[in-house]
Amino acid sequence: MVFSKIEGVGKYLPEKILTNFDLEKMVNTSDEWIRERTGIQERRIARDDEQASDMATQSVKMACSNAGIQYDDIDFLVCATNSPDTIFPATAQRILHNLGIKDRPGFDLQAGCTSFCYALNVADGLVKTNQYKNIAVVGVEKLSSLLNWDDRNTCVLFGDGSGAVILSRNEVVDSGIHISHLGGDSSKANAIRIESGMSLHPTTQETLDNKMHYVKMDGQDVFKFAVRVIPKSIKGLLAKTDMTLDQVKMIIPHQANVRIIESAARLLKVNLERFYMNIQKYGNTSSATIPIALHDAMKEGKVKKGDFVITVGFGAGLTYAANLIKL
Ligand code: ACO
Repeated sequence: MVFSKIEGVGKYLPEKILTNFDLEKMVNTSDEWIRERTGIQERRIARDDEQASDMATQSVKMACSNAGIQYDDIDFLVCATNSPDTIFPATAQRILHNLGIKDRPGFDLQAGCTSFCYALNVADGLVKTNQYKNIAVVGVEKLSSLLNWDDRNTCVLFGDGSGAVILSRNEVVDSGIHISHLGGDSSKANAIRIESGMSLHPTTQETLDNKMHYVKMDGQDVFKFAVRVIPKSIKGLLAKTDMTLDQVKMIIPHQANVRIIESAARLLKVNLERFYMNIQKYGNTSSATIPIALHDAMKEGKVKKGDFVITVGFGAGLTYAANLIKL
């Protein structure tokens, strides 16, 4: 049996911290509202000259170092992102270029905040079908470029950053991605959206005037969806195995809102301490929350090699997914 083992994890967060108190000076909001409704206290914001590909390059470098491989050992790169540098070329190829790797395949995968969980499943398939030995899977967002900083409904929620893992072919032990469970609800496709700038509504003065190039979200619809699909994803995942949730050391959920995670924990009858959270520091970095959280959970000693963890995400599409991983 071949497994795609997580050999190294890395992260990169921009230096600039934007606190809730800073936001109070920008829009009609308060630290109290943001903390109580979301759990977020601060988030990181990339410099104007710091692109998604730059942040991703840094997290992949750290993941390679932790995996003990050279950049040139990467033979495939999947970039999970909703805020690529450009629609094309793929940000994946820009990251490979930054790493000095010239002749390797790589593409971007976009499934809202679920992108990283989807990408793990895709990369796992590429390893298990014996096509590649070391795949870099990187989640990265520079959502600060896509937010309307006058819209308090969205601008307080998101942050910039990147997290990455190196998945390596492993036949020796049963460590790696054991199983994934992916889903979606296309009837809610418009719940999180950027309306213009592509073929549906190419950029015109009118789309700019109507601010159609910014993130828009029906927050309550997404909230209700998330509370329902986190337990559904985890149950769907475990139903494909002979394992129970008790055998899983920690759940690494998408960091969108503490209240969503608390509701999911209640519905699953799982102690909240078994859900890793760092949303207070970084906000919702979309595709990057899960690899950043995995990195931090390992660094803090909350999970270690040999432990089972579940990563679980939801987001635009609307999509959801979970992965069962033995570290
Ligand atoms: N500060 C102060 N008040 C605010 C703010 C703010 N930043 N934002 C909204 N409000 C107001 C609203 O205008 C509303 O006022 P009103 O009652 O006078 O109309 C009131 O607060 C309540 O607004 P709700 O939208 O009902 O607030 P809710 O409790 O639902 O929280 C939130 C909003 C935090 C967005 C929540 O719905 C949520 O987390 N949704 C899920 C978002 C998510 O998970 N997205 C992830 C996917 S993103 C992706 O895939 C790219």
